[in-house]
Amino acid sequence: MDKKNIIEFKNLHTYFYTDKGVVRAVNGVSFAIPEGKTVAVVGESGSGKSVTALSLMGLVAKPQGKIVDGEILMDGQDITKFSKEKMREIRGRDLSMIFQEPMTSLNPSLRIGFQLEEIFHRILGLSKEESKKKSLELLEMVEIPNPKEKIRAFPHELSGGQKQRVMIAMALASKPKVLIADEPTTALDVTIQAEVLDLMKRLQQETGTSILLITHDLGVVAEMADEVVVMYGGRVVEKNDVFGIFDNPEHPYTQGLLKARPTLENRDQKLYNIPGNVPNPMDLGEECPFANRCTYVMDICRKQVPEEIVRDEDHRVSCFLYKEGLDGKSSIKS
Ligand SMILES: Nc1ncnc2c1ncn2[C@@H]1O[C@H](COP(=O)(O)OP(=O)(O)OP(=O)(O)O)[C@@H](O)[C@H]1O
Ligand SMILES: [Mg+2]
Repeated sequence: MDKKNIIEFKNLHTYFYTDKGVVRAVNGVSFAIPEGKTVAVVGESGSGKSVTALSLMGLVAKPQGKIVDGEILMDGQDITKFSKEKMREIRGRDLSMIFQEPMTSLNPSLRIGFQLEEIFHRILGLSKEESKKKSLELLEMVEIPNPKEKIRAFPHELSGGQKQRVMIAMALASKPKVLIADEPTTALDVTIQAEVLDLMKRLQQETGTSILLITHDLGVVAEMADEVVVMYGGRVVEKNDVFGIFDNPEHPYTQGLLKARPTLENRDQKLYNIPGNVPNPMDLGEECPFANRCTYVMDICRKQVPEEIVRDEDHRVSCFLYKEGLDGKSSIKS
């Protein structure tokens, strides 16, 4: 079965050149976003999730931040080679991003309606009249109560959940090919979170948009994702479809993440923590980034970065335990 990919990250390296040294935030990331699907990116704080998303948007902080190697293909074209103007055009039309904190993307001094109309009018070239109509429709679609009134509100007059709905409305106004959502519901309480996720799902069904969803929350992953990419230390350590990630996690880090998850069974126990810390992205060497925390570490893990091993049609794992000829597997699978 052939899946058409709308986005392909190929060996992406995004570094920050700081006074203190080079931060290798994204250090050889490859994965694809299939058309109309949701790909969730999970991993500890600092593993490079947001920098991957910002690289796709062409919004890596300048001048320190730079894509130093690799490609990001959209419909087969490498967008890392596009000019600033072309990227701005693409951001308005093909790629939209929802950030964790809605106030970073809503302009506090402009009415909600005006900000929505701008997208229709300026980016999509609709008339003022038509833009107004479309904006109201969109607020209705994301189920903002009293849309006729709310369209005249300023962002601070909306609740957190309402602001996030407006953000989603704005992000979807241009019917983007890809919606990038970086922790879109982390700041919201649980019931509102569920509503916002439902809304994203419903709108995806209506518009066919692909979603790149970044989250810490494995519950959100289970709810939303078709495919899962697990990042660690600026690299992808495992990817699989959502069922495979939960039923058959193979990378020791993925196994640790799942173990660290609160469930009904472990509610009375202290939550498991993967011992140790994420590596400092300034001194990543030629070894597996997880080696220092891995229960199954072998000599080779400290000498080389493991390559991606094909386990199954959709399943890839970057770990020496699964390399033919090394006998680590018996220790992990028994
Ligand atoms: N503008 C920047 N300048 C220097 N270093 C940066 C910059 N932005 C990110 N980094 C570093 O790059 C690494 C990856 O950061 P990133 O924001 O992608 O992490 P993340 O996986 O999104 O984490 P979180 O879950 O906390 O959001 C971190 O070590 C971070 O400190
Ligand atoms: Mg982040």
